[in-house]
Amino acid sequence: MAGTHNDDSSIRQKASHNQSSVNPGLTSLWRRALEQTIELAALHLGKLRKYAPRNVLDRYDAWRLRHMVFKGERRLVPEAALEDSYNQALQLLKSKGVELGDYLEFGVYCGASLACMHRTLQRTRINHVRLFGFDSFEGFPDIAKYDDGGAWQPGDFRFDYKSTRKFLTLSGVDWGRVFLTKGFFSDTLKSDLIRRHRINKASLIMVDCDLYTSSKEALNFCAPLIKDHAVIFFDDWNSHNGKLARNNMGQKRAFDEFLKENSHFIAEELVSYTSHVNNWPNNAKVFLVSHADSQTHTPGTTCSNCISAAWTLDFGWSELIGYSGLC
Ligand SMILES: C[S@@+](CC[C@H](N)C(=O)[O-])C[C@H]1O[C@@H](n2cnc3c(N)ncnc32)[C@H](O)[C@@H]1O
Repeated sequence: MAGTHNDDSSIRQKASHNQSSVNPGLTSLWRRALEQTIELAALHLGKLRKYAPRNVLDRYDAWRLRHMVFKGERRLVPEAALEDSYNQALQLLKSKGVELGDYLEFGVYCGASLACMHRTLQRTRINHVRLFGFDSFEGFPDIAKYDDGGAWQPGDFRFDYKSTRKFLTLSGVDWGRVFLTKGFFSDTLKSDLIRRHRINKASLIMVDCDLYTSSKEALNFCAPLIKDHAVIFFDDWNSHNGKLARNNMGQKRAFDEFLKENSHFIAEELVSYTSHVNNWPNNAKVFLVSHADSQTHTPGTTCSNCISAAWTLDFGWSELIGYSGLC
């Protein structure tokens, strides 16, 4: 992806040149006139859709989607609430003394949620956390036909790679710390990528790829990277009006299986960022996932940390002699 850096800086330069050298009043008049013409054309094209060839329709729909995304008319995440939630997650991890690992996002689409994390990290002056985004940029894979009782279609939620880079560039991301990997998870989520980017640890994970299979692939990839604590955000847990989760499908099924297969992880549910947003479906769930060895110690229970702690302390502090391995 290194070859695209020049494109990104020219997008930035063009934006700032446009801002500085033209009369703002005239520009906004022109923009309004152009937008109204486009709206009118869209209205008429809408009526003509049924006569249009497939490839023309596809190109028109992709153009219209980009137009809406760049104008801020289409978002798949509630940005302000998500940024708050990201900030709370960072504070929670900090309170546990976690040395932060990277942010991994599965399902980037136009880049809105990734930009939210980038802004949050910038605001909190956390500069060492990198952001990795994974997406086909071609929408859902073929398996979507069979996943989750036929709730999805292959190709749904397609947003092209070049436009995502443009969106992220205009959002002001620092490409020195943001890495996008294009391709279906079954092809890209491999251990050589972990080695290539020297990803040692994931502390913040956004699973926004809707399907059971995709979410499971994302979680499996993350399992060895969760070293002590990580906050995992599921954006689509209750999608389809909660039907998927109620029927043990989608992201709920993926996470339940993940916890069963990785019994060394303990999950604690946190407040969801969609629970208090007006006119937004409460679809998301957020969990703190902790490696059993780094769990906070609950009095009266046994954990491997305390067994070794008791061992050391028996020889040191006399007031703790007799500490038997119970927390
Ligand atoms: C709901 S969108 C993500 C929204 C995004 N987080 C945002 O803030 O706008 C879901 C994305 O997941 C991607 N996706 C789902 N399954 C995938 C898979 N198996 N491999 C690659 N990408 C996948 C789709 O291409 C789509 O862009």
